Amino acid sequence: MEKQRIKIADFKPEYLNPVKNILSENFEYPWSDTQILSENSFSVKKVILFSNKIIGFFAGEIIFSEGSITMIALKKEFQGKGIGRYLLDWFVGLSKEKGVKNVWLEVSDKNKKAVRFYKKYGFVTEDIRPSYYKDGSDALIMRYPVYP
Ligand SMILES: CC(C)(COP(=O)(O)OP(=O)(O)OC[C@H]1O[C@@H](n2cnc3c(N)ncnc32)[C@H](O)[C@@H]1OP(=O)(O)O)[C@@H](O)C(=O)NCCC(=O)NCCS
Repeated sequence: MEKQRIKIADFKPEYLNPVKNILSENFEYPWSDTQILSENSFSVKKVILFSNKIIGFFAGEIIFSEGSITMIALKKEFQGKGIGRYLLDWFVGLSKEKGVKNVWLEVSDKNKKAVRFYKKYGFVTEDIRPSYYKDGSDALIMRYPVYP
């Protein structure tokens, strides 16, 4: 993957449809329009562009010393090419700049691919919320120490 063709750009409401397509490609219960569109002063919402086409969506928050990732999803044909790792590097870099101590996320224990991806990066499971998701799966609460 030619990294120079990957760009991270601010999410805009007009990107709703391409983002919905990416989420429905990946999830049985994708985010609602409201979840995709909602923003507050802590949120970090981005689209990932490849040759100026939207190929991914990122959502997170930075609230003082704690960061969180609420969504990372790439179009299937762009998965497994190092873009996910690149996005984590970017968000951890941004978190460092802002003085964040930990980056948190929740992931379904059924999403083995994502769990392996986060573990490989250095996220550690801190807690489990049983039957948290609509499909009955447990949520793993994972943490990445920005300053270990
Ligand atoms: C999860 C996701 C964001 C990962 O991004 P990606 O670009 O596919 O992952 P990368 O190619 O950057 O992989 C990074 C590392 O994780 C490993 N990895 C990724 N997918 C893996 C898999 N299925 N099995 C084992 N390891 C895997 C890679 O081997 C790579 O390790 P390396 O750098 O040592 O080679 C992406 O696959 C995706 O969009 N999935 C669907 C949506 C989703 O489930 N999101 C997470 C829940 S919010």
